[in-house]
Parts: sequence; structure tokens; C-alpha cells
Amino acid sequence: MKLIHLTDTHIVPKGETLYGRNPAIMLEQCIGDINENHSDANLCVITGDLTHWGELESFHYLKTELDKLSIPVQLLIGNHDSRAEFAELFPSQYPQATKFMQSYRIVDTGVFLFLDTVQEGHHKGWYCQERLNWLNDALHASRGRHIYIFMHHPPFDIGITALDNIGFVNSTDFREVLEPYIPLVRHIFFGHIHRPLAGSWLGMPISSLPSLNHQVRLDIDKNIPLYGKFEPPMYAVVLISPESVIIHNHQFADDSAEFDMANPPITDWATKKHRL
Ligand SMILES: [Fe+2]
Ligand SMILES: [Fe+2]
Repeated sequence: MKLIHLTDTHIVPKGETLYGRNPAIMLEQCIGDINENHSDANLCVITGDLTHWGELESFHYLKTELDKLSIPVQLLIGNHDSRAEFAELFPSQYPQATKFMQSYRIVDTGVFLFLDTVQEGHHKGWYCQERLNWLNDALHASRGRHIYIFMHHPPFDIGITALDNIGFVNSTDFREVLEPYIPLVRHIFFGHIHRPLAGSWLGMPISSLPSLNHQVRLDIDKNIPLYGKFEPPMYAVVLISPESVIIHNHQFADDSAEFDMANPPITDWATKKHRL
């Protein structure tokens, strides 16, 4: 199975900019690259902060751009989005949802869980009792299949203080529900942090990606406000098999020179008798 993961598109209404940029331009470039190189992917998942201010105009602009994507897409909401506007523009994303934008999908390689960690009016992530009950039922229904979790907020601290300050509030409750299923969780994909990141939590592999528009400066354990940067955006190509989950982070907007490694351009190093 081939999956595309991207996150934090932060779309603003057409004609407006965010930190001096139009986020839709980067999304369009990203979609063009996916269509050209990964039109065989099974699914593209965008892990939240689809828009920056959550208004209908932004969701509408997002929809116009996503209509160009040649593969199916699953959208999650983030703290910058709003449920009502999202549900109005994308009614087919969560047709069963009555309150929260969550779903459960059985795929060849296991079960995908798409979670809603948004507490409207707050930037912090929150997973209330109603959602914990839903998660508990979904995990129970997975019946021993491999589990892949997609969410906006990571349910743990990452070491960047300003981001941890707008992190997941009730990590302990979430962890308690998840704990019996940890051996089955093959990966947790999330957004929110606007940086490439990989590692593990309680033994479960985790990863995130830069935003498509703006990034967060790497300030580990410094009690200072968030600083933005324009480091390169990425999307991830995720190859899932019964044995492995392989994640290729792709800087799709990179325009550095390419060359044939068997016939490199003449350079100082190439004229020397070094062997690769
Ligand atoms: Fe974001
Ligand atoms: Fe976020």
C-alpha cells in the first residue's frame, strides 16, 4: 500500500496571504508533484490545520485545489479549523459523524483511525470522554489487525516548549485507552508541529512533517515564544507492507541541480581518484 502524508496546509481566502505567502500556491505545487509521481497511491491523508482561520472561503479555496488531486484524500481537522465550516464544505469526509470528525477504515494492511483532537476555541489538543469511548470501541473492533493512527496534535511532548504549551492536554487518558493495543500500533502520523520529526512513543513509531506554508524554528527546551521560518515544505511517501512501514520525506519544491552519478559533471572531487 502506498500512502501520501502531508499536513498543515493553512489555506487562507483567495487573494489573501499568510506571513507574506499564499499557502495555496505551495499546495498546488505539492498536488502537481503527487499527481506526476504518485498517482498510484491509495490515499492522501492531510493531518489538520487545513485552513488558517477556519472560515468558509478558505475551505472553499482548499476544496478547489484538492479537486486537482488525482488520488482519494482523507482530511483531518486541526486547531486552526472549525468543524461546522469543514463539515459544510466536505460532507462526504465523515458521513457518519454527528459531532466529531473521526472515522475508522479497514484497509488491506490493517485499520486506519482518523482522530479529531480539536477543542474549538483553543489551540491545545483535547480528547474528551466521548471521543475516548469512541476510540475504545474502534480499537476493540480492530480485532487484532495492525493499527495506524492519524491525528493533528501529538499525544505527547516533543521538547519544543512553545509547541508543548499548545500540545495535548489529557495525554494520560488517551494513553490508558491505547495501552492494551500498543503492540498492534504500527505508526502514529500527526501534524501541528510544523517540523520534520520521527521517533517513538511508548514503543510506537511516530512521525510528523513540516507545514506546506511556514515552519517552526527548532528551539529545544527554551522557554520562548514560537518563531516562524520558511524551511522547505515536504510531503511523505509511506510504503506499507506486512513487514514494514517505510517513510520517504520529499522536499517537492527543491530545485537544486540533479546529475547522473555514473557520469558526474567535472568537479574538483570528480577528477580525483576517489571511489564512491
Ligand atoms: Fe499548523
Ligand atoms: Fe495545529
